[in-house]
Amino acid sequence: MPGQINAWLGAVILACLAFLVIAYVYVSNRPQGGADAERRVAQKALRADAESKAQALLTTPARNPDGTVRIPVQDAMALIAADNKVLGKIAPPVAAAVAGAAPSAAFVKADEEAMKRGAAVYARTCIACHQPTGKGLPPVFPSIAETPIVVGNPELPIKFIINGLMGPITVGGMTFNSMMPPVAGVTDQDISDVLTYVRQSFGNKGNPVSVEQVKAVRATNAARTTPWTTAELGLK
Ligand code: HEC
Repeated sequence: MPGQINAWLGAVILACLAFLVIAYVYVSNRPQGGADAERRVAQKALRADAESKAQALLTTPARNPDGTVRIPVQDAMALIAADNKVLGKIAPPVAAAVAGAAPSAAFVKADEEAMKRGAAVYARTCIACHQPTGKGLPPVFPSIAETPIVVGNPELPIKFIINGLMGPITVGGMTFNSMMPPVAGVTDQDISDVLTYVRQSFGNKGNPVSVEQVKAVRATNAARTTPWTTAELGLK
């Protein structure tokens, strides 16, 4: 009966093919020798570790070894993206408010160039913590908008921009006890510009700070290497 033989032959050929396919899949996926397998497991663990560390850098705030706070890359990028827009929104009304306010007899309006340079220094060195609005990120970073320390004796912020500030301090009714690290990479000119800028932005009305004032404070405290404490500066 040729029909039956054909069907039988077909079944045998199919079974052979199936066996070959299974054998091939098995051989090509078979685990490799001991050392090789170990190396692959170690590599996989390393990759997972690097991946989770990179992810943390992107999304999770943390502390650096020197105690300063690390802003997640994602947030920093968002700040940088928002920065120009937000600064653009803030600058005109504040400038107008300062110009339009009836200044006290002693009020001196900062010149535009100093304000521009100061805004650039602010965007480079203060914005991550005190934010584009100057309102900070309570309860970690205090506001520098309409706070008395910003417009008070400039000697204090000059001192703590150079050496840092730590200890309890109450700003806008909220007590902060964190640390402002020394601001790195700023010249005396940068410090005078940025202080002039913050003293006449965010609703603040303080007089400009000159390079000479910064130089004098720096010279007087040249031996200082540790952060100032709020108690030392008479801040509460
Ligand atoms: C890494 C974050 C960080 C950076 C960058 C930073 N600050 Fe601060 N700043 C702080 C913290 C935190 C405090 C409060 C310190 C404490 O608790 O003793 C503070 C306090 C202050 C204060 C006094 C408190 C207040 O709100 O009036 C002023 C003024 C100030 N910073 C200005 C600046 C200026 C200007 C810059 C840039 C040149 C700057 N800060 C950069 C974190 C920062």
